[in-house]
Amino acid sequence: MEKSNNTVAHQEKVEELESPLELLIKNLPKERNFDGKTIYFYRGFWCPEMAIRGMIAFGKHFQAQDTDLILTSNPKSGTTWLKALMFTIVTRTRYPLTENPVLFTNPHMLVPSFEYNLYNPSLYVEGNRDPRILSTHAPYDVLPTSIKDSKCRIVYICRNPLDQFMSNWHFFAKLPSETHSSIDETFNRFCSGIVFFGPFWDHILGYWKASQEKPDKVLFLKYEDLKEDIVFHTKLLAEFLGFPFSVEEERHGVVEEVSRLCSFENLKDLDINKGPILPGRDKSDFFRKAKVGDWSNYLTPSMVEQMKKLIQEKIEGSGLTFKFS
Ligand code: A3P
Repeated sequence: MEKSNNTVAHQEKVEELESPLELLIKNLPKERNFDGKTIYFYRGFWCPEMAIRGMIAFGKHFQAQDTDLILTSNPKSGTTWLKALMFTIVTRTRYPLTENPVLFTNPHMLVPSFEYNLYNPSLYVEGNRDPRILSTHAPYDVLPTSIKDSKCRIVYICRNPLDQFMSNWHFFAKLPSETHSSIDETFNRFCSGIVFFGPFWDHILGYWKASQEKPDKVLFLKYEDLKEDIVFHTKLLAEFLGFPFSVEEERHGVVEEVSRLCSFENLKDLDINKGPILPGRDKSDFFRKAKVGDWSNYLTPSMVEQMKKLIQEKIEGSGLTFKFS
């Protein structure tokens, strides 16, 4: 049926009144994420509705400083862990370890996310103490040029996609079942790249390549490596961030203490990591099992084969490898 002239004129009037930002969002391709919410295809990746405005504002307005430390990740890859570790490493001389804010404040409050917490307003960024420790799930290509061009440092935490998928699945399976898809549908969407901040391979490869080209600028960490030897990686991270442990600190076991303070076992039992964080979300949802290879308890052999084949195709020739167990 053809639209009447009146309808078209009315539509044009409505659009004229909408802000350029709302119009831009309205015209982006959309899909349903597996939590039942809308995700928008923006600059080559799928951005959740809750983050789209913040993400656009972050890209347009954020001015990096050389001292900034930026944590980047795919969701469910160990972001909470790295937030705690980066914060504790950087502030360990400001507070005794037994009084570090990580014991009294949830890591997501200590290291805010650009797209979820800071834009808007951007006040916190301005007020945050030097060095500012900030985080984002934005893919590398989408980062503001000031982050890429300044001397600020980027840490990327990567997790093998089978465990990342399962962690995602459990995170959303906590929601009422009518709001999210079945594990089969979720798996198929994940493998076709339709997942928030995905496709996951583009996200990982973007940071992997950047870390290969600029190792002083981008530190690429793997969740599985940290699980294997956290003390070594805490030291490595501290050096990269420009806050190396002194010989004296090493002798007094400070590296071990920082690693223990930020461990899953310690953080998950703290009161500040329990209780509501967002509507329908509890802080404890960010602390589940923290196991490498937990996927083997849930995925069928054919799902595993399909995902491993896909991963192989995508990372072929990049030099990147994953540990699955
Ligand atoms: P599981 O769901 O496999 O248990 P993110 O912080 O990016 O949302 O990632 C959440 C995942 O990291 C969850 O994985 C969670 O249990 C795990 N995690 C949270 N804190 C951790 C810590 N201190 N050490 C290791 N893993 C941690």
